[in-house]
Amino acid sequence: MTLEQIRKTATHIREKTNGFEPEVGIILGSGLGSLADRIDVAYTLNYSEITGFPVSTVEGHAGQFIFGRLGGRRVVAMQGRFHYYEGYAPTEVVLPVRVMGLLGIRFLFVSNAAGGVNPSFAVGDLMVITDHINLIPNPLVGRNIDELGPRFPDMSDAYDVALVELAGRLDAGLRYGVYVGGTGPTFETTAEYRYFQTIGGDAVGMSTTPEVIAARHMGIPVFGMSVITNVGLSGVKSTHEEVQAEGAKAAARMTRLFVEMIEKL
Ligand code: HPA
Repeated sequence: MTLEQIRKTATHIREKTNGFEPEVGIILGSGLGSLADRIDVAYTLNYSEITGFPVSTVEGHAGQFIFGRLGGRRVVAMQGRFHYYEGYAPTEVVLPVRVMGLLGIRFLFVSNAAGGVNPSFAVGDLMVITDHINLIPNPLVGRNIDELGPRFPDMSDAYDVALVELAGRLDAGLRYGVYVGGTGPTFETTAEYRYFQTIGGDAVGMSTTPEVIAARHMGIPVFGMSVITNVGLSGVKSTHEEVQAEGAKAAARMTRLFVEMIEKL
């Protein structure tokens, strides 16, 4: 993907939203879309109507951007994202983040549903992502777009420490940990869960790390949150339905936290 292609998509979105300039970007994970109900909506853009966006795979409708006001700020929320496991190229997975960066976001909030690897985690826990281990092909492989960021970006502060601290002041019951980004679409074997525990993971999912890498490449501070929808080493099988249902239950608490954080940025 070239800078011209990304700029063209950003220009197209600016035209469709009358030059709306979001300050905060929010990516809503599986079952976590209800935050969108809190947005005072100005514009909604289906991904299928955006020039340059990948065409959705068999699942049908990939999602939408919601532009509006939340917590006193101009935001753009992604209800639905592009996953590597759906067959999108790594550069396509991060195109929405690239575009939100060009539209001017100064913070990125990302969320996902994840499996608990840390044995002390329970279903319904909210885990602040303090770091990640990326096992998905890196979206920066290929010619570097120097206008967006450096060839060899630092990742030692992938998740903004001040935002992690802010979250802790607003909700005393949060968990903290390392998110492992795997390709999916399979859930992990028992041995893989043990392996992720051994290498320092606390939660595992199938998204987020590519988007965070792209945001950090562009110098955008990131706050990340995993909703623990199932626990890996419990002996209970993980299903997509369970992930959706548990995500929906925890979404209200995550929404409250995100809104309070955005108010205090
Ligand atoms: N593994 C990977 N991705 C997930 C899981 C899991 O257990 N739960 C929700 N997303």
